Amino acid sequence: MLKNKKILLGITGGIAAYKAVDLASKLVKEGAIVKTIMTKNACEFISPITVKSITHQSVSTKMFDAEAQIEHISLADWADIVIIAPATANIIGKTANGIADDLLSTTIMASTGPILFVPAMNVHMFENVIVQKNIANLTNSGYYFMEPEIGKLACGYEGKGRFPKVTEIIYYIKTHLNYPRNFVGEKVLVTAGANREKLDPMRFLTNHSSGKMGLSIARAAAIRGADVTLIYGNVVAEIPSYLGKAIFAESAVEMDKMVNLKFSENKTIIMVAAVSDYTPAKAETQKIKKNGNLNLKLIRTKDILAELGKQKKADQVLVGFAAESENIVANARKKLKIKNLDFIVANNLAVAGKNETNVTLIDSQNEQKINGCKFEVAHKILDKIFSK
Ligand SMILES: Cc1cc2nc3c(=O)[nH]c(=O)nc-3n(C[C@H](O)[C@H](O)[C@H](O)COP(=O)(O)O)c2cc1C
Repeated sequence: MLKNKKILLGITGGIAAYKAVDLASKLVKEGAIVKTIMTKNACEFISPITVKSITHQSVSTKMFDAEAQIEHISLADWADIVIIAPATANIIGKTANGIADDLLSTTIMASTGPILFVPAMNVHMFENVIVQKNIANLTNSGYYFMEPEIGKLACGYEGKGRFPKVTEIIYYIKTHLNYPRNFVGEKVLVTAGANREKLDPMRFLTNHSSGKMGLSIARAAAIRGADVTLIYGNVVAEIPSYLGKAIFAESAVEMDKMVNLKFSENKTIIMVAAVSDYTPAKAETQKIKKNGNLNLKLIRTKDILAELGKQKKADQVLVGFAAESENIVANARKKLKIKNLDFIVANNLAVAGKNETNVTLIDSQNEQKINGCKFEVAHKILDKIFSK
């Protein structure tokens, strides 16, 4: 998604400036061409030589450079996207007020493509009413922002202001480069991961679902502006901090309860979790002793998706996932009809846990094959849902 994309990285004078080096490095590894502008104050924190050694591209620090072209225009025209990371309260304030008094702020003014700010600062600075007004004004004017994370800050304070994880910034960049922010105001419910059904205090039954596909859909929808509720079982990856409404539901019964609680308030419901089809008839309170062979009695759990299909209102879009090991498309198409779904995404069991997938997206009329990394596939599924 980033191969040969032209990214202009603006680094400003915040304590998180050193983290921009890791961001630049990961962008380069993904095949992007990264040119950089550093403010005078950013150079107090890290050296332009460090950035240049990583990106092998220009790192500009001065507005008036006799050697260079009119850089604020040439760099603005060159970039597919501009990322300001970290973004100080100062650069946010300057941009919000149309101030162009150095190379970075002037280039921002001259840019016509997408611009993403990644603010990082002390919690009181971030919560300052003027900073918040500036962010709101810029957001309303079409600039993109990523929320800082909550946690321990370099200044010793605890709160919102941390530079987000670089991997998450890259998801934002991929989205803003390639997809519109067309889910603003949409309420989307996503389930992800595998259930765990307790046998005793130590043991459980589960499946190979990693949660990567569900998390990719939740991520992609949130970055495209949706108000996402994520209900997740066991997942191998960390839940991103910007998915604020994330609810853990370990067993099929708990997942059923939480999904039903949230179903009616959401317009789009995407059920990716691998819900257990069976659960032990009884969960033992003490550890089961090994006394020869053991016969387990398993009982059927509720088919959550089929029940939602019965409750679905005309303005709701219900999407199911079907992992199959044979006759993948034919079996999925049957489920689409029986469960009253708008779309079903058929995939092969072999993709569980992997970063790449290949799926068939099926609705009552069409079938579309989609291959690629799960995040890209997630976006293509959202495109289809949006165009419904
Ligand atoms: C040690 C130190 C750390 C700083 N960290 C931050 C920070 O994390 N975020 C921020 O917005 N400003 C921070 N500042 C303040 C900025 O450096 C200051 O507002 C400066 O004018 C920003 O300039 P620039 O936006 O042109 O890079 C820090 C200042 C110092 C001295």
